[in-house]
Amino acid sequence: ARVWYLVPAAGVGSRMQADRPKQYLELAPDCCVLEATLATLQRALPEAGLCLVLGADDDYFLPSMVPWQDWLRADGGSERADSVLSGLECLSEVASEDDLVLVHDVARPCVREEDIRALVAAARETRDGAILAAPASDTMKRAVASTVVESPHISHTESRENLWHALTPQAFSLGVLRTALRDALSTNPSFITDEASALEACGRSPLLVAGARDNLKITHPEDLAMARLLLAAREA
Ligand code: C5P
Repeated sequence: ARVWYLVPAAGVGSRMQADRPKQYLELAPDCCVLEATLATLQRALPEAGLCLVLGADDDYFLPSMVPWQDWLRADGGSERADSVLSGLECLSEVASEDDLVLVHDVARPCVREEDIRALVAAARETRDGAILAAPASDTMKRAVASTVVESPHISHTESRENLWHALTPQAFSLGVLRTALRDALSTNPSFITDEASALEACGRSPLLVAGARDNLKITHPEDLAMARLLLAAREA
């Protein structure tokens, strides 16, 4: 079965408070976040195909940012899960149902090539798919549901045992993921914040593959500064 990357890149990234979507902010000299992410994906699995999901009114994208000769473009939707489903439907026109799809946030440029390859190896051994993840290391507090958003009180401490941060890529068979995501979006869309949650909702149990903790998602301005430092340190 073939391997495909599906990269949702149709978000506006409002939490970055920047003048453009975060995937087009500069990460290294002459290299924006989207270019850095796609270059790493390509180096990790040069034989994999690409489906890139872009906003229909994206004014910043340039085809020269994509290191693939042939690739597929799909239109984004209103939420991340809608964008991923749009990409899966586009892929379904050319790929087999049992091809492996690696969904990876464009906003995670620090993913390591060896983690991607380890994920593929793990996903090939299970029917329920696999995701990169990192064990929680902070003490986790549940806040009292309150109207004070800035500094609410603590309700209790959640056990950290067996608690993991979900990262991307997340890898599933094309047919399994498309069916699960379609079902989940038609029943409880607010619950679907990653691909694995759609699989869980239909009773499957994807594998957790421990990945590097520095596979951060650029969400807030300080995340961009950290990603720049991490990648500069790896170059050195
Ligand atoms: O905003 P957030 O960081 O959660 O977005 C995660 C990923 O999903 C990003 O790669 C973003 O571009 C993508 N996304 C999308 N379509 C949306 C919302 C987010 O492709 N409607």
